[in-house]
Amino acid sequence: MIQKFRFGTPFETDAVVNKQPEAAGAPKHFSVDNPEDGKTVFTMTLPSTAPVYGMGESVRGINKRGFTYVAHNDDNPHHTETTRSLYGAHNFFVTNDGTPFGVFVDFPGRVEFDLGDREPDTLQITVFTDTFGLDFYEIEGTDYKDIVTQFRAMVGQSYIPPKWAFGYQQCRWSYMSQEEVLEVAEKTREAGAPLDAIYLDIDYMDHYKDFTVNPETFADLPGLTAQLKEMGIRLVPIIDAGVKKETGYDIDDEGVEKGYYVKNAQGQAFTGAVWPGEAHFPDVLRPEVREWFGDKYKILLDQGVEGFWNDMNEPALFHGEESWKRMEQARKAYEETPDYDHLWKLRDSFGMSNQEIDYKAMYHEVDGKRIPHDKVHNLYGYNITRAAGEAFQRRYPDKRILLFSRSSYVGMHRYGGIWQGDNNSWWSHILLNMQMMPGLHMCGFLYTGADIGGFGQDTTEELLLRWMELGVFTPLMRNHSAIGSRRQEIYRQKYAPDLANIIRVRYMLLPYLYSEFVKAALNNTMMIRPLAFDFTDDPIACDVQDQLLIGDEMMIAPIYTPNARGRAVYLPEDMQLYRFRSPEDYDVESLPKGTHYVPCALNEVLLFLRSNAIVPVAQAADCVSHTDYSKLSLLANITDRGSYTLYDDDGFTRDYTNPAHYSQITVTADGAITATGEKKFTLA
Ligand code: GLC
Repeated sequence: MIQKFRFGTPFETDAVVNKQPEAAGAPKHFSVDNPEDGKTVFTMTLPSTAPVYGMGESVRGINKRGFTYVAHNDDNPHHTETTRSLYGAHNFFVTNDGTPFGVFVDFPGRVEFDLGDREPDTLQITVFTDTFGLDFYEIEGTDYKDIVTQFRAMVGQSYIPPKWAFGYQQCRWSYMSQEEVLEVAEKTREAGAPLDAIYLDIDYMDHYKDFTVNPETFADLPGLTAQLKEMGIRLVPIIDAGVKKETGYDIDDEGVEKGYYVKNAQGQAFTGAVWPGEAHFPDVLRPEVREWFGDKYKILLDQGVEGFWNDMNEPALFHGEESWKRMEQARKAYEETPDYDHLWKLRDSFGMSNQEIDYKAMYHEVDGKRIPHDKVHNLYGYNITRAAGEAFQRRYPDKRILLFSRSSYVGMHRYGGIWQGDNNSWWSHILLNMQMMPGLHMCGFLYTGADIGGFGQDTTEELLLRWMELGVFTPLMRNHSAIGSRRQEIYRQKYAPDLANIIRVRYMLLPYLYSEFVKAALNNTMMIRPLAFDFTDDPIACDVQDQLLIGDEMMIAPIYTPNARGRAVYLPEDMQLYRFRSPEDYDVESLPKGTHYVPCALNEVLLFLRSNAIVPVAQAADCVSHTDYSKLSLLANITDRGSYTLYDDDGFTRDYTNPAHYSQITVTADGAITATGEKKFTLA
């Protein structure tokens, strides 16, 4: 049951699609207070053993209790234990005070979630309601999964990318020319690895101008996309939120002329600096601006591109108008008193990037009203991605286009996925990648993953192997690294054959992973869950923070520490352990419920099949479109009888409910298989 409590007059965020009536009375689990003007505070006492799950893209463990998270979308590459905000605002969690319940705070500005930080038994949510009110939702249900499903039904169906987007993808900041892109394609394949996409980071553009292509280094983009497509590889360019400010650049001229940009206090287009230098920011809270900006993607789609990643859309500002003025003032002050001490103090007195003074000096226009950006800050990345998503639905209703974003708010999950931003080549970030997955799946961001191998810092071969072994199971499987860091393409590694085989294991598992993904999107469920969500009565399972359930049939326990030869794994029921060195070379072992030390060599992928589980697998090919999905093998751990509903389709169209896309498979203990539909199944 969902109850919506309204406080003041909220700003319409468009997070919720199934509108709820306002409930009478006050929230059941929280007391509500206005301790000072401009704040609404929700407080409750939480039993000391109660976990808190959710908060989407955020640091720390799967159980979020014991820290303060702040909803304030931030271009923050420091993903450490004390980082309060990352790129997305996902204000949803579940907990249990005797009855399980969930909370969703629908508010476009800053919200602080103290989940037992200052006082261990107190949960306190502070909403900065000086300008807008909020909608506060309490959701009760039979268990966490039921609450999540009710929440997701309310906020709408998750984005489903094309099937090829479940293949392996290679990125780098930046591949500098079309020759280099082709070299990456050829060398990856020569190394024996499947590959479905190569990314273009900012340097493909002409002077970082959105929707342009450098005429020298990418002289024939349609030729490049065609050549790659013959190899079964797609090209995915980056689109940045900031549009280069330049007279004569047609898109900027048009944006200025039509008054489509976020404005400053004087009513002119606000200027902030990003990669192109000075830039303008489309006012995507306006539907006509979304239509305008979204339609621009066609320029690249017409050249054979089939996917995009939207970046810097918090929006990130290297500096804005106000921080620039402050810097100028400081410079003048220093000129007047040019001593070193003075300069040093000034250095510490302010920053330039992503400053509140700049966000406060940007204005949106919503229904003819001027709205300061800082009050609706968390909606910007959502709406710039929505602009593209809406354009794709309008122009290509029968085709899926890959789309994911860095910044987001609940609601954006209907238009695209997200990647987990600028992580580092750190062991702790493999664990963070794993621990972030369930919270994101709770909030509807099903298509997600982290930069495999780590974005910043230098990777090592061991780190890359171990990270890839987790990446096999994340819907987005992309290797990405920053300019200046050690190269991470698999063919450059001594362990290239092992990396290739790990990626091939992903392709083998694709029928299952795709099926579980699409079913989770259609049924408003979580493909990736903590053990606590399924084994609710098992206190050990509820405490496990480094293993995950992947769909209904399997569990994973990836290695995230250096120099490990294995790890301890808790099995909440009898399971079958598969240890894959490649799709063709693996061993299987039955393990009883309990804790086991499981050896795992550097080149091995571990997966655990649940009791009576069936996992359909394919023969690994060099890309998704070359994979034969008509003849599948079944990994099956059958003690008496197992059944599985397999979803499959052409990977492009959107007729998900077509019964022809579903096969019902049953396997009994004697190995007999029955299945509906056209596909042929044999036991592996
Ligand atoms: C940002 C993105 C990163 C990208 C870089 C250059 O840091 O998060 O993925 O490579 O910008 O475009």
